[in-house]
Formats: sequence, structure tokens, C-alpha cells
Amino acid sequence: MEVIVCPTYEEISVAAARVVAETLNEKPDAVLGLATGSTPLGLYKELIRMHKEEGLDFSHVTTFNLDEYVGLSHNHPQSYYYFMWENLFKHINVPVENIHVPSGTANDYRAYCEWYEDRIDECDGIDLQVLGIGSDGHIAFNEPSSSLASRTRLKTLTEQTIDDNARFFDKREDVPIYSITMGVGTILDAERLILLANGEGKADAVAAAVEGPVSSMITASALQLHPDSLFFVDEAAAGKLKMRDYYDWIQKNKPGSPGA
Ligand code: F6R
Repeated sequence: MEVIVCPTYEEISVAAARVVAETLNEKPDAVLGLATGSTPLGLYKELIRMHKEEGLDFSHVTTFNLDEYVGLSHNHPQSYYYFMWENLFKHINVPVENIHVPSGTANDYRAYCEWYEDRIDECDGIDLQVLGIGSDGHIAFNEPSSSLASRTRLKTLTEQTIDDNARFFDKREDVPIYSITMGVGTILDAERLILLANGEGKADAVAAAVEGPVSSMITASALQLHPDSLFFVDEAAAGKLKMRDYYDWIQKNKPGSPGA
């Protein structure tokens, strides 16, 4: 687990975009796992800039999104498909047939969730998974008490997540209470994980995920079990990390860094 603290949100976004770009440079047909929400917007903005100005190529990339609200179709403005289309996909050259966002309108969710897992396997798994973190410590929609071995399935959102996400809807009652989400186990199968967090509101969740016990009550803490996970956090989100000086020391003394 590596914790990289940057002074600002813009800097964590650019640093995370560099990791995505490095992945695509090494493996142009990489499989990317993607997240929605406010946090990755800066990362997506930077990837779009890299595509337009530096020719970062997504033409062989396949994507899998983490989650979707149950009941919202692709063209619903609050659906995660719509979010991804508006904030990333329509601006880059990823083939539309390579895009996977869980369906919020499947007839048989059990069969659909199995299909989603099989589809990830058919693509030889996710090379790089982008994650945000909920203020309750969730990753994707794996709310507190989710099994750390869980796979893609339906999940009932907590009232806190509904409150947190109400800002995107006209009114709180419009926020769906069910989601379809990759499980913690699905996420841990990715080759590499990058989690981004910004703002004071995430400081407790980040500290619990990085320095707390591994627990289903903070599903992001499961990243401690992954051999290659990077946390990009801004100053505010790093505010409650006890080992903050050590994380900075590691970065300063990394081979090739100016401080080494
Ligand atoms: C969304 C997702 C969620 C968010 C989390 C933080 O695809 O997986 O876990 O990453 O709820 O949301 P924001 O970034 O809006 O604070």
C-alpha cells in the first residue's frame, strides 16, 4: 500500500492520470476499471487533455465500471452510464463496444451479475482499477458490513450514501436505494488499484482504510490485502493519517525522486 499525499485536488488528479497513461503506454489494450462520483472528475479531465494534446490512445482499451443505480437506464441524466459518457467516453476514442457499465435495468439481476463477472474474466481481468471512497469507507457500493469476498451483486445503499449522493438529484427521494456493484472480491482481483480521495469529509474514511484494521465495516480497508494499491490523497483528506510523515518520507526517498 502506497500513500501519496499531494497538496491539491488538481495534483492528485494529474498524478493518478499519469499512472493510467503509464499503464496504457505499457499495455495499449489494457482493461481499465472506472469509478463515478465527484472524485475522479479531475482525473478524467486530465485523461481527456492527454488524449487531445498528447495523443493518449484508448482505441484498444476496454473499460468496466464499478457500479450503477438500479432502475436508471443509460440515458437517465443521473445514471452512471450517462455520467461516464458525458465526463469521459464521449471525449476519448474508446470503442463504444468495449465499454461496460453495469445495467440498472436488467430483467434477471442474478444472471446479469454473473455475466458481468464472466465478461471481466473473458477480458483477462482488470489491469488497473480506479476507486473513490465513500465517507462511510465504502468502495464501489460495498457498504459497511459487505463481505470482503463479495462479487458483483445487488446492494442496498445506506442512508448516509443516499444523503451524500442526493446532491446529484433534484430531491433526496429520487436517489435509488438499490445499486448493482462489483464486489470487494471482484475489485481485489484487479492487477493494480488506485484510490483517490480529496477533502476533509474523506479524512476519517482514509485513515480507517489505510491505518485501521481490515474490516467489512470499512470496505476500503480491504485494499490492505492487495499487493499493489496506491492511495492519492490531498492534504485535507490526509488530515487524520497518523503515519503521514512516514508516507512523505517514503516518497522523498523513492529511487529516482529528487529527495533520494
Ligand atoms: C462510484 C463509486 C463510489 C464513489 C464514492 C465516493 O462509482 O464507486 O464508491 O467512489 O461514493 O463518491 P464521491 O467521489 O462523489 O465522493
